[in-house]
Amino acid sequence: MKAIICIVLLAISAFWIYRGVNHFIKPLPKPEVDTNTYWGPGKPVNYEAPTDIVPFEIKYDQTIIDDLRVQLNRTWKYTAPLENIKFEYGFNSEALRHIVEYWRDYYLPKWSKHEDYLNSLPHFKTEIQGLKIHFIHAKPSEAARKEKKVVPMLLLHGSVREFYEFIKILVEVSDVNDYVFEVIAPSLVGYGFSDAAPRPGFDALQMAAVMRNLMLRVGFDKFLIQGGDWGSIIGSTISTLFPENVIGFHSNMCVLHTPLATIKSYIASWMPEQFLPARFFYDHHFPLKDKYKFLILESGYFHIQATKPDTIGIALEASPIALAAYIMEKFQTATGVGRNQEFNAMDKTYKLDAILDNVMIYYLTGTVTTAGRFYAENLASNSLALSLDRVPSPVPMGCARFQFDLPPALDWALRDKFPNLVHSTYFNQGGHFAALELPGMLYINFQEFVKKAIAE
Ligand SMILES: *[C@@H]1O[C@H](CO)[C@@H](O)[C@H](O)[C@H]1NC(C)=O
Repeated sequence: MKAIICIVLLAISAFWIYRGVNHFIKPLPKPEVDTNTYWGPGKPVNYEAPTDIVPFEIKYDQTIIDDLRVQLNRTWKYTAPLENIKFEYGFNSEALRHIVEYWRDYYLPKWSKHEDYLNSLPHFKTEIQGLKIHFIHAKPSEAARKEKKVVPMLLLHGSVREFYEFIKILVEVSDVNDYVFEVIAPSLVGYGFSDAAPRPGFDALQMAAVMRNLMLRVGFDKFLIQGGDWGSIIGSTISTLFPENVIGFHSNMCVLHTPLATIKSYIASWMPEQFLPARFFYDHHFPLKDKYKFLILESGYFHIQATKPDTIGIALEASPIALAAYIMEKFQTATGVGRNQEFNAMDKTYKLDAILDNVMIYYLTGTVTTAGRFYAENLASNSLALSLDRVPSPVPMGCARFQFDLPPALDWALRDKFPNLVHSTYFNQGGHFAALELPGMLYINFQEFVKKAIAE
């Protein structure tokens, strides 16, 4: 009798455990999306979206640049780093002092040259759902169009400056490629030259709807997507919600936040050779303890922006030096272990001027607060409740894992979300800003992916 009761109880518990676990790991259905939500200021009284696309030029008054030079010339109190400390406590103030001098005395006097460079790709603006969206639209030359097949692509990240070198390769013909690309690289809503949403709730799902509408506006209803950072999250969201528009999605930050992916990475940590193409790539995923430690050490900014973006935003807008330190700390970290404590790591890895261009865009457009809010919107409970990482997408997917980027998902986990994972690769170099750091490598990897995605 006792044994029977035990068995019955065990069976009931097993059933409840199964139900409980299944509740957290089963794939979820695609949510409904309103693709036309008005995001402009005020109420949309008789709102009719203007559909024109107007050329845009980056042009700032010399007085603004002069004023910045004066601000950078003020004595600012800086606290010396601790003895023998480089970047462990945050951006090194000694390194910053040198960079600020360079910015003031070498970079800014040549601002018109930097501005010309920023204008060396064609810029446009158009209004989508009440928001003016800025984008680069780079086309292959007529000669290139005759020689190779042209494929439209949406290139997504935080700041367009990270893409210049990459875009210039994408639109050109070379011996190794089968395709040339017609590239649309937007400033995300709230970033750089695009408008910011005036109301709460503008998360990755809303961003995906706007970016897809942008592609439709430009005239593409089938396109490739490439993305890292938020661009990867947004690219994944577009692929999930609008797979009919996506030829393929290539990510250089293929992270996946699901309970099942976490369970799988634990299991894989016990027998990594079963789950990796080579032992060589162990460090990309493991040891998990080190990966979690890295995430905690480097994600303080994330927590601040996800909870109180406006407070930190005020501090950063009040001081261009603070703004530069805050932004450059990320680029410094992304230069990778072994290099991220060197004073000139950023210059070696990307060229300091490219980083200052990026800081200038945040400074001139005054968008660090609105960009920071995107973290809060995506961490808001309605947004998290969608668990879009658990909604599978049928589009062909490609993943490029650079060595020093955030810990990526294993193929085993990534296939839960992208069953059509056609291209999965590892690099023993490179960090989070791959398009800026290794544009040629990212390009070759992307070409390989596109061949497979188009063959699908
Ligand atoms: C910076 O300040 C010094 C001393 O006050 C002054 O001589 C110099 O012209 C200033 N430079 C700029 C770029 O404002």
